[in-house]
Amino acid sequence: MKNAEKKGRFLVFEGIDGSGKSTQIINIKNRILKQGEICFQTCEPSGGPIGSLLRQYLSGRMKADEHTLAALFAADRLDHLLNETDGIYGQLKKGVHVLCDRYFLSNYAYQGATTSLDWVMQLNEAARKTIKPDCHIFIDVEPDIALERVAAGRAHRDLYETKERLSKVRDTYLALIDQLKKEECILVIDGNQPENRVFEDIWEGISQLF
Ligand code: TYD
Repeated sequence: MKNAEKKGRFLVFEGIDGSGKSTQIINIKNRILKQGEICFQTCEPSGGPIGSLLRQYLSGRMKADEHTLAALFAADRLDHLLNETDGIYGQLKKGVHVLCDRYFLSNYAYQGATTSLDWVMQLNEAARKTIKPDCHIFIDVEPDIALERVAAGRAHRDLYETKERLSKVRDTYLALIDQLKKEECILVIDGNQPENRVFEDIWEGISQLF
């Protein structure tokens, strides 16, 4: 997308499962709405056909190897960007701000940790070339705290919700952020703090975009 065509802001929220992304997306969305601007809140896996398939793998209802999942996450991302019903591309073009729970850094951190990071990066090149997020907001939380939050929120655990996997994913996120910080705008937030402090830190980092 040519920059001139992109009128809305594109913010993506990243973190391990239980990092508090969903809560903070709602807080940030409400803050932006208060300024009289329009926001579209969305997530990956998306609500589209490939995203729905992925939810079946994540819940354990269906099984596939990690390479298959990596490719499906990348395919879901392109469909999420480009579909003509509610695609992110179209929303940004209309001047709507898009807040997305997870984007390609999730694919890098979750599947890059167990397949080949270079290969997962290549899978995401088309999405990366289509639209660059204005900011990736990484909410950093200790895996123990994150798993406590997951356990308090629901009875079952998804595919990746083990301490070993989440620790590995967090380490991969932190290494990637170090590697990509010159090419991408990435805000690292201490998510172990109380909810309102996390919100204030995020808003302080992105308010100049609005
Ligand atoms: P999550 O944000 O935890 O959704 P929910 O709150 O609905 O459970 O994301 C679902 C899972 O999808 C999470 O474990 C991470 C995983 N995931 C990947 O492994 N790769 C990806 O590219 C994406 C977008 C998500």
